[in-house]
Amino acid sequence: MTAAKEPSVSVLLDPNWAAGSLVEDVRRGLSQHPRTLPPKWLYDNRGSELFDEITRLPEYYPFNAEHAILTEHADEIVTASGATTLVELGSGTSEKTRLLLDAFVSSGQLTRFAPVDVSEQTLRDAADQIAHRYPGLEVAAVVGDFTLHLAHLPKGGRRMVAFLGGTIGNLYLEERRAFLGALADLLEPGDSLLLGTDLVKSADRLIAAYNDGAGVTDEFIRNSLVVLNRELGADFDPGAFSYIPFWDPHMERMDMRLRSEAPQRVTISGADMVLDLSVGEEIRVEISTKFRVSKIASELEQAGFGVTRVWTDPDNEFALTLATKP
Ligand code: SAH
Ligand code: TRP
Repeated sequence: MTAAKEPSVSVLLDPNWAAGSLVEDVRRGLSQHPRTLPPKWLYDNRGSELFDEITRLPEYYPFNAEHAILTEHADEIVTASGATTLVELGSGTSEKTRLLLDAFVSSGQLTRFAPVDVSEQTLRDAADQIAHRYPGLEVAAVVGDFTLHLAHLPKGGRRMVAFLGGTIGNLYLEERRAFLGALADLLEPGDSLLLGTDLVKSADRLIAAYNDGAGVTDEFIRNSLVVLNRELGADFDPGAFSYIPFWDPHMERMDMRLRSEAPQRVTISGADMVLDLSVGEEIRVEISTKFRVSKIASELEQAGFGVTRVWTDPDNEFALTLATKP
């Protein structure tokens, strides 16, 4: 038996990243209306654990739907991509990605896997597990921010960049444009993007997926305040807020908010901010945009990709699109 190679881990986030970038995000976001927090701050160690629990909730259909597509079509995806390097953005535990890796390994074409995530411990654990499961595969993990560090992704060979879980829907339209445009500019002709997007469906089903009966999503969203308390010495009382997820039919997105249940003053010393919140005032913690297949294609084409193929699950809940740089 060949011994597994240890994964390499490059850390692109500097040690002050949390402090520095968080302060700017918090200053900007919390002075807007509605007040907003950027989603990458949801994924500290506890947040990543809670997200992992979310993926196992019966109400959270996106995980199962994307899993079903990959189970059915991983071989075709691998063949269509012709990739020798798989890069994964926002990889988390890379659980579903194993379906792709299995198909890549049986095709014999893959030499390198490069998962990228801001959540360092989750990434390290996933990279170790994958290196042991696929001996012979070079695992080159990157602790980085996909809105800042695309230029540092591994080069050479034919690459497929997987961006799964519907995470692109957590970006605003302008951010999606900037992200997809930057990615298209960086890729070489023949490289591709495998993009997972959740599709528009009934409000009931959507709301249930973001408001589970066990309260895991509520804790996940509320954990953002715990992150601010720890990283910026803020004094949020997470218990003084209630979790309000709603479907915005005009923007076709879920909007996840925390509502202040009492008038309160919050001091965020690390950001030099004092926040006076009135009763009922809301902080938006996350959006999750839902797509139609035509909208996915037009955003990809505007960014400079060509749509090679779209796969959906049997219930048409989720789509995986393979887009290629011409
Ligand atoms: N791809 C996995 C996880 C999705 S959850 C799945 O499909 O189940 C979103 C992941 O993206 C988390 O692991 C989070 O830490 C990561 N993430 C969020 N914002 C990020 C950013 N700006 N840069 C890099 N990773 C980010
Ligand atoms: N990318 C996931 C999604 O949009 C992130 C997520 C899952 C999430 N559950 C959540 C974000 C609950 C906020 C609240 O589905």
